[in-house]
Amino acid sequence: MTATVRVDLGTRSYHVIVGSGALAAIGDTLTGRRRVAIVTQTAIADAHLPALAAALDAAGIEHRAFTIDTGEDAKSLATVETLCESFAQWPLLRGDAVVALGGGMVGDVAGFTAAVYYRGVPVVQVPTTLLAMVDAAIGGKTGVNLPQGKNLVGAFHQPLAVLADPTVLATLPDREYRCGLGEVAKYALMGDADLTAILATRSDAVLARDPEVVADIVVRSAAIKAHYVALDEHETSGVRAHLNYGHTLAHGIETVAEYALAHGEAVAVGLVFAGALAGALERIDAAAVAAHVDTITRLGLPTRAPADLSRDDLLAVMQRDKKSSGRLTFVLAGPNGLETVTDPPAVAIDAAFAAVGL
Ligand SMILES: NC(=O)c1ccc[n+]([C@@H]2O[C@H](COP(=O)([O-])OP(=O)(O)OC[C@H]3O[C@@H](n4cnc5c(N)ncnc54)[C@H](O)[C@@H]3O)[C@@H](O)[C@H]2O)c1
Repeated sequence: MTATVRVDLGTRSYHVIVGSGALAAIGDTLTGRRRVAIVTQTAIADAHLPALAAALDAAGIEHRAFTIDTGEDAKSLATVETLCESFAQWPLLRGDAVVALGGGMVGDVAGFTAAVYYRGVPVVQVPTTLLAMVDAAIGGKTGVNLPQGKNLVGAFHQPLAVLADPTVLATLPDREYRCGLGEVAKYALMGDADLTAILATRSDAVLARDPEVVADIVVRSAAIKAHYVALDEHETSGVRAHLNYGHTLAHGIETVAEYALAHGEAVAVGLVFAGALAGALERIDAAAVAAHVDTITRLGLPTRAPADLSRDDLLAVMQRDKKSSGRLTFVLAGPNGLETVTDPPAVAIDAAFAAVGL
């Protein structure tokens, strides 16, 4: 059983196919391609390469796997260069394709390598983390880090398709899975009442990674991401910034706490903060504020920031945030849906800090 979400981008439109049969679509996706380079990581290959290889064999497509290291240090131009050289030695040719089998890190590196190899070959994203299924694999943003900062070198390179099989999440470490739930909570609290209700009533099944329930929350989340990507493919109109709901404080926490909290955990705290700030500004009512805390709590994610963080340090980082142009800018819920709010009064910010234990 699969369900499909369309990412509507004119001639670059594609589908996110979600369900335990998603890999079977790889043959149709790659019709006419002779060989594909699969970019992955060792632990992912051990568990999930056989199924992908079998689907490619069934489609008569030659394939070879290229593994890269884990961690943000390996998300580098050096890794891209090594991959390009390995592709050229094989050789992978202009009419061939790349398949990214992994989480957001593999997707970003493989996607960027595909964007530049032969000045661009197609890529298929096969996400293996919840975060990649609902976020990183959709939207065409690819790239690598520099010593000076994360994701500083990259390209927009939309995939041919995104094939998301929730059963692969069975092998994902627990903390990685919960981090993905932080992004799912974000989509829910951005204003999807149905998704919020599923997270409230089926949280046990969600936490147990029940493939049917996970497929449902992936489809709903992917549809929201696809909606914003279609409105603002290259992040020029500002509307794609709504996807940063909860991320202003999250980025501050990640920087000030030096990544002691994983991204999804920081997003969870950031969502509680955003809910409390919108409440203090009387943009949403007390029940909507409480829904933020309730959703995060049910998913086993933190609602409070590490107590030793200083408000001043967090405010300084939030003002420097690359998406805020030097002012204190938040995406907040309100009567007209999500809106960007700049420089809210100090008393409201104080209340929001208090809500996350600061
Ligand atoms: N392009 C975008 O729009 C976008 C959006 C959000 C995040 N990102 C990027 O995504 C990256 C984070 O991605 P992530 O959270 O998916 O983490 P990740 O890709 O670093 O994966 C985390 C760990 O889980 C392992 N893993 C992945 N799938 C597994 C599975 N099914 N079973 C067992 N182990 C598995 C990986 O090998 C890795 O060790 C960051 O580099 C971030 O910048 C990109």
